[in-house]
Amino acid sequence: MLELKKLRTLFELSGGKTVTAVDGVSFEIKPGEVVGLVGESGSGKSVTALSIMGLLAANSRVESGEILWDGRNLLELTLSELRKLRGRDIALIFQNPLAALNPVFTIGNQMVETIQEHFSLDYKKSKDLALSWLKKVNIPDPEARFDQYPHECSLGMCQRIMIAITLVMKPRLLIADEPTASLDVTIQAQILHLLAELKDELDMSVLLVSHDMGVVAQQCDRVMVMYLGQIVEEGPTDKIFADPKHPYTKALLRAIPVPDPSKKHAFEPLAGDIPSPLNIPSGCSFHPRCSEKLPGCESQSPGIYSVQGCRVACHLFK
Ligand SMILES: Nc1ncnc2c1ncn2[C@@H]1O[C@H](COP(=O)(O)OP(=O)(O)O)[C@@H](O)[C@H]1O
Ligand SMILES: [Mg+2]
Repeated sequence: MLELKKLRTLFELSGGKTVTAVDGVSFEIKPGEVVGLVGESGSGKSVTALSIMGLLAANSRVESGEILWDGRNLLELTLSELRKLRGRDIALIFQNPLAALNPVFTIGNQMVETIQEHFSLDYKKSKDLALSWLKKVNIPDPEARFDQYPHECSLGMCQRIMIAITLVMKPRLLIADEPTASLDVTIQAQILHLLAELKDELDMSVLLVSHDMGVVAQQCDRVMVMYLGQIVEEGPTDKIFADPKHPYTKALLRAIPVPDPSKKHAFEPLAGDIPSPLNIPSGCSFHPRCSEKLPGCESQSPGIYSVQGCRVACHLFK
């Protein structure tokens, strides 16, 4: 369905410098799959998502690679072809629902507008569809909410409304970029649960982008771990969690807070900061923070090795 081949996305900075935010990323998402893209902030997750959607900032561009959707390279589509595809085939929800909702229009207005952009329905039918979706995302009293403005709703409710506006078009792939990062923990769980339910109902695929290994563990069939613009490990969620291979994946897993104090494995935040993409370390870019580094790691970038059903980019598996 979606396939990325060696995607490279750059930013042009003032002074003529360029930053490679996504550096040769390849992956595939199949129908019905829920795939997690996880890594510390700054690793290139959002830029990957925006590249797929064709929504990069003005100072950013895809330098090379392919983004195939049912075999068609999205990078070769015209803007109007891409607009048609956006929302209806591939949809994106962001971290901050308030930034995505328009503050000057009512929720109902925004929903009806989106519906009428994509379906030829009259106002009454569009409104009915909008109300049925507000109900689906568990908004109490949808009739009343329909006439309210975004600022009259809580953040969690705005995210539900965004999900309704996005999913009303029944996309085949939903890219959810940190959809719960701005919400309280209890609301986070509700939203993730809702997404899982709707995913089954609509039979869509999900690319769940998160810095939080815990979130990804609960939701995903498969996990891809990203570091400084590259995927360093990829595999089925149970395998990645039971037996992580890459030292970065292991470190991310140790950094999940453990609520049970009797558990031996203590919470251990990741050592060191993620380097600036302006100054990517030589060889394996994780080597300065790696506790298992070998002599060649500073000078040679690792190949990608298949290990027990996972792919891992690390010299330890040569
Ligand atoms: N608007 C921008 N201008 C310049 N560089 C940017 C911009 N947005 C992102 N980047 C670069 O891309 C890298 C990856 O960013 P991003 O994909 O947002 O990370 P993530 O979503 O994993 O936290 C950043 O570390 C930064 O170097
Ligand atoms: Mg991001």
